[in-house]
Amino acid sequence: MCGTVRESAWWVGLVFGAVPLLCFAAWHATDAWYNAAFALKHRNKKSTNGDRRRIPPGHMGIPFLGETLSLLWYFKLARRPDEFIGAKKRAYGGKPGLYRSHLFGSPAIIACSPAANKFVLQSAECFGIRWPVAELVGVTSVVNVEGRSHERLRGFILAAISRPSSLRSIASMVQPNVVAALQAWADKGTIIAATEIRKVTFTNICKMFVSMEPSPLTDKIDQWFHGLLAGFRAFPLDFPGTASHAARKCRRNLDAAFQEELEARKKVGKECDDLMNGFMQMVNEQGEKLSDEEVVDNMVSLVIAGYESTTNAIMWAIYHLAKSPIALSKLREENVAMSKSKGGLSSGSLTITHDDIPKMKYTAKVVEETIRMANIAPMIHRVANRDVEYGGYIIPEGWSVLVWVRSLHTDPEYYQDPLTFNPDRWDEPARPGTFQAFGGGPRICAGNMLARLQLTIILHHLSIGYEWELLNPDAKIDYLPHPRPVDGAAMKIRKLATTINKQMD
Ligand code: HEM
Repeated sequence: MCGTVRESAWWVGLVFGAVPLLCFAAWHATDAWYNAAFALKHRNKKSTNGDRRRIPPGHMGIPFLGETLSLLWYFKLARRPDEFIGAKKRAYGGKPGLYRSHLFGSPAIIACSPAANKFVLQSAECFGIRWPVAELVGVTSVVNVEGRSHERLRGFILAAISRPSSLRSIASMVQPNVVAALQAWADKGTIIAATEIRKVTFTNICKMFVSMEPSPLTDKIDQWFHGLLAGFRAFPLDFPGTASHAARKCRRNLDAAFQEELEARKKVGKECDDLMNGFMQMVNEQGEKLSDEEVVDNMVSLVIAGYESTTNAIMWAIYHLAKSPIALSKLREENVAMSKSKGGLSSGSLTITHDDIPKMKYTAKVVEETIRMANIAPMIHRVANRDVEYGGYIIPEGWSVLVWVRSLHTDPEYYQDPLTFNPDRWDEPARPGTFQAFGGGPRICAGNMLARLQLTIILHHLSIGYEWELLNPDAKIDYLPHPRPVDGAAMKIRKLATTINKQMD
């Protein structure tokens, strides 16, 4: 009896004493540790306003995992991704839009106000690039290198995929493939939009970047990219069975495939009008060409940058239009009128040119609204190269900096009723600094014009020739790694050509 009482008392003590104490210690240990380290390093230094130096407000979560579980809770389980930042704003106030945290294995500062984000993205000398596994993205690729090499590569890429002359030829190059793909979707009748769009986007990429037509090799390349992208976001643990290990294997296969193509071109002196050829011909100030490794790294990184992003953007445009009949009818009206002005639409396959795009005002609004709501890159990663002061706080050297662009696009302060798809909101431009879907500063997305062009082309052909309907309009949304309906936007699609043709006669 006495033993049982003693045992119960022991358990009560454990449950009401030791366990809460341990939880309390675990909850505060990481925060206390980093605060103490910061205080020690900055003990004799003052901020520019003469005050004691401080790190931004926030909480660094539990040991090792930091706030990763909280992030996963909001993004994966609760499916309320904006609450992750919303909770911080409520707890610590909205200004200056900086919070301390511990995410993805590193102490981190989250930036989430237009001004703070702009400051980080523009200050390339203070905030550098740090990829978890640089080899996966390519150590010599544009997304990884800095300074002069970055400027040179970026300059070439912009000329190749952003200049009006380049976009003009890309527009005519990709359209036959888009038109054929839409016809094939309608022939199937029911499709998973995400899967089908992926195929079209990849075929276009192969054509634009390496002049490759669909073949068993491009199918393999596609699978390797799939594996690479999956490992990219996985924990960087490199042993058999892990996604990161598989991604490294995919990366080696991709390197070999692009290297083989490169050598074949050199052997026969073949010159193609594509991105690979451009990289092969590029020279620096000393007249030196890029090494093979640089060419391959840049090819791979451009596909990484442009493949999933464009696929997701197109999927979201189709998804939102299916749920917004008024927007779709305005889009259709503008595009039918455009097609008609170009001489008719008996086959539904007339192409638009890059020069038509400035006239497609409503389509442009649909594109911007889609990109705002899609939040394809919810955050942009940087690392502080030194201690940087902003808004009265110090962003400590070596900490990662997460520019949370998503929080701007879903904030009712900047976009009225932000979760509603409303292309007409773009009658007025966004308030300065509140639209950062493509990043900003010297690393702003080099493919943003190309992404907009591809969206415009597919919206044109879809709206003039097809009608579609989501099979599960209320499907849940996954928010990681990218926002996407769980069913991949399964839909029914059928040709509309005759109806529209009648309207136009
Ligand atoms: C809707 C589609 C797209 C979105 C939302 C998007 C978004 C972004 C974002 C957020 C960044 C990071 C910017 C930064 O670090 O400050 C970026 C960088 C980049 N993107 Fe895109 N992107 C898209 C499509 C494309 C396409 C189609 C391409 C080209 C094939 C492309 C090529 C690049 C490149 C090369 C960079 C690195 C630029 C640099 O470091 O200088 N992107 N993109």
